[in-house]
Amino acid sequence: MAIRTILRYPDKRLRVKAEPVSVINDEVRRLCDDMAETMYAAPGVGLAAPQIGVAKRVFVIDIADADHPSELRTFINPEIVAREGETVWEEGCLSFPGIHEEVERAAKVTVRAQGLDGATFELVAEGLLAIAVQHEYDHLDGALMVDHVSLLKRRMIDREMRKRALADARV
Ligand code: NI
Repeated sequence: MAIRTILRYPDKRLRVKAEPVSVINDEVRRLCDDMAETMYAAPGVGLAAPQIGVAKRVFVIDIADADHPSELRTFINPEIVAREGETVWEEGCLSFPGIHEEVERAAKVTVRAQGLDGATFELVAEGLLAIAVQHEYDHLDGALMVDHVSLLKRRMIDREMRKRALADARV
């Protein structure tokens, strides 16, 4: 396992539409292992493959807090097949460190995906898990947190992240 570098906005690779995984082989399993390790190290509750520069339709989520045993879930080729209700949640994203914004999403979703064993499963998610599924699913289509906020907020976040990227480039 290895900790991979998490891409930060405005890296263009975050805007790429990810490709479906055709075969769940050792390479995909290694990718999922690395993604889990990278997510835990960050730490974060979710990570999508495009965030480490891999344009594949894969994400991992673990919403268990530090006091509880881990509940790692791997989603390969996920599809959100049902959405219900509305909720507003203050979200963060590992590609936007330190930035939190209120985002409106469905309160409950049904997601269908393949697990590491290749078997298809269906999960009905509510609360933080539903938010995480929708947030990570967005990453697979190149959609980001900033796409869900007002234009003014988006401009402020954009300016802040570009300023930081410039500062990082100087050191
Ligand atoms: Ni994110």
